[in-house]
Amino acid sequence: MTTLMQFKDVDVHYGPIQALKKVSLTIDEGEIVTLIGANGAGKSTLLMSIFGQPRISSGEIIYRGEDISQKSAHYVASNGLAQSPEGRRIFPSMSVEENLLMGTIPIGMEHAEKDMQRMFEMFPRLLERRNQRASTMSGGEQQMLAIARALMSRPKLLLLDEPSLGLAPIIVKQIFQILKDVASTGMTIFLVEQNANHALKLANRGYVMVNGEIKLTGTGAELLVNPEVREAYLGGH
Ligand SMILES: Nc1ncnc2c1ncn2[C@@H]1O[C@H](COP(=O)(O)OP(=O)(O)O)[C@@H](O)[C@H]1O
Ligand SMILES: [Mg+2]
Repeated sequence: MTTLMQFKDVDVHYGPIQALKKVSLTIDEGEIVTLIGANGAGKSTLLMSIFGQPRISSGEIIYRGEDISQKSAHYVASNGLAQSPEGRRIFPSMSVEENLLMGTIPIGMEHAEKDMQRMFEMFPRLLERRNQRASTMSGGEQQMLAIARALMSRPKLLLLDEPSLGLAPIIVKQIFQILKDVASTGMTIFLVEQNANHALKLANRGYVMVNGEIKLTGTGAELLVNPEVREAYLGGH
């Protein structure tokens, strides 16, 4: 297994508040790795620190053998890392097509047309809505758009921050099926989720974060049956 990304003893502070405490984790090529934890645990902080926002205060973020923790967001994005951020953050007044084109900014327009066709094959719903303003779509469609936009930069590692947030259970199922399809193309995925049940079923491996620290790690299957995880994140049964 080739390691794609590694956090080594990463600390992050927001002023006097320490949001991440000696966080270490590994993502190997071709894996789906999930990070689960309650609201406020530090999941988004970890994901955003990959893009230097916020900057880490100590430790290292090694990506393909290089410490990227002090690099610019642009450098990171143009080297194969793309995220679907928490809350989707699509461009509301732009069309689906325009949103997808925004995803190509880190790599340029060369493959834009072909890649957009590929996204429309993977997400037929987006094809139907290609000229529609993004703000007028449902939450699930907007989430599909956020994932497709991230894929437009041809990432080596797809980062997802709570893609199931605020969506109805049936739509959550669809989104996780899409992630499974994306993974089956060989994509490496790092999935941050509060929806531990879905995330652990999908993932090869998982980490559990509590108050900025990694408390547990194991395969998805191991964590699903772990009594502590069941008690804290799966309603105890
Ligand atoms: N920009 C910020 N400034 C100060 N504190 C922040 C900021 N962003 C997040 N925090 C704090 O850091 C902690 C972790 O937040 P976050 O990473 O958003 O958690 P999660 O994504 O797991 O819900 C929380 O206590 C939150 O209040
Ligand atoms: Mg978050």
